[in-house]
Amino acid sequence: APTRLWGGRFSTGPADALAALSVSVHFDWRLAPYDLAGSRAHARVLHRAGLLTDEELDKMLGALDDLEHAVRTGEFRPSVEDEDVHTALERGLLERLGSLGGKLRAGRSRNDQVATDFRLYLRDHVRKIVGRLVELEEALLAQAERHVETPAPGFTHLQHAQPVSFAHELLKHVHAFSRDVERFQDWDKRAARSPLGAGALAGSSLPLDPVAVAQELGFDAPVANSIDAVSDRDFAAEFLFCASMLGVHLSRLGEEVCLWTSREFGWATLDDAYATGSSIMPQKKNPDIAELVRGKSGRLIGNLTGLLATLKGLPFAYNRDLQEDKEPVFDTVDTLLLVLPATAGMMATMTFHGDRMAAAAPEGFALATDVAEWLVRQGVPFRDAHEIAGACVRYCEEHGKELWDLTDAELAGISQHLTPRVRDVLTVEGALAARSAFGGTAPTRVAEQLAALRDVVQGH
Ligand code: ARG
Repeated sequence: APTRLWGGRFSTGPADALAALSVSVHFDWRLAPYDLAGSRAHARVLHRAGLLTDEELDKMLGALDDLEHAVRTGEFRPSVEDEDVHTALERGLLERLGSLGGKLRAGRSRNDQVATDFRLYLRDHVRKIVGRLVELEEALLAQAERHVETPAPGFTHLQHAQPVSFAHELLKHVHAFSRDVERFQDWDKRAARSPLGAGALAGSSLPLDPVAVAQELGFDAPVANSIDAVSDRDFAAEFLFCASMLGVHLSRLGEEVCLWTSREFGWATLDDAYATGSSIMPQKKNPDIAELVRGKSGRLIGNLTGLLATLKGLPFAYNRDLQEDKEPVFDTVDTLLLVLPATAGMMATMTFHGDRMAAAAPEGFALATDVAEWLVRQGVPFRDAHEIAGACVRYCEEHGKELWDLTDAELAGISQHLTPRVRDVLTVEGALAARSAFGGTAPTRVAEQLAALRDVVQGH
């Protein structure tokens, strides 16, 4: 007969349809190592409470080690009869210890157990995610290093706006990703609370020690309210938000890679190892990583909104709805651990064509603002300066000219304020260098920004 964790009050086993709906072991089995860690901590607490003898504790810990090994090697597998990871592992313990195995459940409920396992799993995996994210940051920093002095068109509305240093463009992504790292690290402060000891919802009449358990499992402290301990899934939802925000950042980077590698831009070429071909068009080299990254941000957001919808209006304390917390979180973890190394590899190996960017940088009258600001420095009110610079653009468009080609006479014809000295500001290098206040795109500033960001990323 299957090992169920309940049944005494039932005259019959569950209907097949109920068992099929209820089963979660096919997805919660990945919590097994964390469940075993919780079991070890719980066994020690039962021992200190006088509920396990020295000998029983030894046997219990030995069996848990053996089971952990069997889980790791795949020798112990959950069966379809096991409702969930907790049921499967209790079966493993009973197989090893006989009735002694049944002592471990004292004072513990799957409600506090699953909440504990889930936090342990997520804290562990968030560290992995942050590690992969730092690798992506480092790839972007290394590329930025090469392009501090490379001018590129800067956009608003996807129209040429003002030239910028291309490193400035790359570093904006590193800033976003470093906020993501900080968000994950800040998330951990709130996730680092142990629910174990809350039991079903009210705590236990047995003399357990939630503080010692929390410590053994690497938490900062136990959750201070046993009802909150088994009901709270903020840590899951907040993780999904942090992951969605990261997904949005990855997606915007992905979109830029798609643009930059297009023939029309021609700013970058993907390494062959990070590009894909077409089944019909032999010439194709496609940015599938960038597109998948962009696409997968949608499922990250879906996982967040799905869990929030599950949580909304749930009564306290534990309800079975809460079992629906795991798949979205697992999917988000898996997705990020796929997406991040691919993105880091793509960015690290991409070749940027600084010459193409530099050639395009002044196009589209991208220096018109510099004309207006030059006039401001001559004492012309910006409102008028804007009009005059706009008139220059219109004149150039009508005559097929660039701003820097305007003759002295043409300049004077547009406005008495336009002396030949205005041409001094009509270079891309000058336009970049002039934006030298903090946060600006002047290469000197960008170099400082890069150095500061290196320190930030090192600290991650
Ligand atoms: N599989 C369940 C979950 O993931 C474990 C807790 C079940 N608790 C219960 N009282 N049925 O939430």
